[in-house]
Amino acid sequence: MRRKLIAGNWKMNNTPEEARALLAELLPLIKGASCDVAVCPPAVCLETVYKAVSGAISLGAQNMHWEAKGAFTGELSAAMLLAVGAAYVILGHSERREYFGETDETVNRKTRAAIASGLIPIVCVGESKQQRLNGYTNAYVAYQTKIALTGLSAEQVRSIVIAYEPIWAIGTGLVATDEQANETIGVIRAALREAYGGAADDARILYGGSMNAANARGLLNQPEIDGGLIGGASLKAADFAKIITDASNIA
Ligand code: 13P
Repeated sequence: MRRKLIAGNWKMNNTPEEARALLAELLPLIKGASCDVAVCPPAVCLETVYKAVSGAISLGAQNMHWEAKGAFTGELSAAMLLAVGAAYVILGHSERREYFGETDETVNRKTRAAIASGLIPIVCVGESKQQRLNGYTNAYVAYQTKIALTGLSAEQVRSIVIAYEPIWAIGTGLVATDEQANETIGVIRAALREAYGGAADDARILYGGSMNAANARGLLNQPEIDGGLIGGASLKAADFAKIITDASNIA
């Protein structure tokens, strides 16, 4: 049985002071949650968040470099993220692919480096609106998934998290239907099964894209959907808490 994971991707929002205020509101609302919870704040807030949640929530970063150190201005290594308490790292988010030139190959390098260091990658995949309209969704997400995980062993794949985030649903208010999300996540799991056998049944695959307090329950009730990667709604304590409560009631 896969344990549900609700992860908040704060993107480029919240200073350390704002982060503390949001968590002070959130923490009392999610006492007794029985799903896994993570927040992924901007790098400048990682240490603040780690201290503020004192173990109640896991910490995730939004990106990292694949090299251990060196002349990579503006980048952070896996060891640096671990040193401030991160357990997860989001890799290959579509915003990074679109605005910062990330490719399936760099996402693969990062994924291998994260796993090797002991961080749990949350690898993002997802099709554009045009790809869905043209009927390429299944082939594309299966391809993205396989490239991102190239070089990993089945054992390593067991602990990985994948986030299926259709690009057309991110920040648009257009959410995939429960059935669409479940079906595409099933395709991703089938691609994992083909490459890694039974490890596919342990890897968690989240849905992300305009998931909110009102629609989370239906999505989380789908058999293939192991949780959510939540953007906008993770910035509002009551909304994020509601999603965590819904996941806990299903788990
Ligand atoms: P929204 O929930 O704001 O659509 O963002 C989803 C996302 O990109 C999470 O990584």
